[in-house]
Amino acid sequence: LRHKDFVQAIIRWYRVQGRDLPWRRTNDPYAIWISEIMLQQTQVDTVIPYYHRFMEAFPNVYSLAHAPMDEIYKLWEGLGYYRRASHLKEAAAAIVNDFDGEFPHTYKDILSLKGVGPYTASAISSIAFKLPKGVIDGNTLRILSRILNCQENIAKDSTKKLYQEIMDQLIALGDPSDFNQGMMDLGAMICTPKNPACQNCPVRDFCQASQSQTQKLLPVNIKN
Ligand code: ADE
Repeated sequence: LRHKDFVQAIIRWYRVQGRDLPWRRTNDPYAIWISEIMLQQTQVDTVIPYYHRFMEAFPNVYSLAHAPMDEIYKLWEGLGYYRRASHLKEAAAAIVNDFDGEFPHTYKDILSLKGVGPYTASAISSIAFKLPKGVIDGNTLRILSRILNCQENIAKDSTKKLYQEIMDQLIALGDPSDFNQGMMDLGAMICTPKNPACQNCPVRDFCQASQSQTQKLLPVNIKN
C-alpha cells in the first residue's frame, strides 16, 4: 500500500522532472546497452557526446560486430577504461552469432554478455525490456537508507543484498524503467550525498530520515 504509493510518486516525479537524456529517447536495446556501458565508469555529461558519435558510427549491432577495433578505440578515446570498448565488440559478435543479431531479452542472457555485470544487466533489463530488476548503486543505496532511516553499513555485502531485495519488491509495483531511472535522477538531483534538497523531494512524506533530521548522517558507509 505505502510501497505502491512510494513507487508511483517516484515515477510521477521522473516523468515530469527527470533528465532528458539521449538514450532515454529510444527503445532500442542496442542503444540502451551502449549507453549503460559508457555510464559504468563515466559521468552523464561526459558520456552524452560520446554516445552520439558512437551511435552515428555504429548504429546497430552488425556495424559494431564488423568494425575494426582501432575505429572503436578512436571513438572511445578520452572515455577511459578501454577494456569496455573491446568487450563491446566481443559482445556484439556474440549477439550476432549466438542470438541471430537480436539483442537478448532475458536477464540471464544479458548478464552473459562480455562487460555486463549485475548492475548493467539490471539496468538494461528494466529500461529496454521492462523486467522487474532493481538497480543497486550509490544513489539507490543512499535513497533507501534515508527513506528507511537505516543505519546498516552499505559497504557490507549483506546490506546490499537486503537493499536488492527491497528494490526488487518495489520495482514490481510500477514501470521498471521509470522507477529505476527515477531513483537515479532523484539521487543525482535531490537526494544528493551532501545537502539534499528535501524541500523539493517527491517522496519526503515517506522519508523516515527527513522526519528525524538524520538525512545528512546517512548512509552509513564504512569500508574496512
Ligand atoms: N547511470 C547509469 N545508467 C543511467 C541511466 N540510464 N540514466 C542516468 N544515469 C545512469
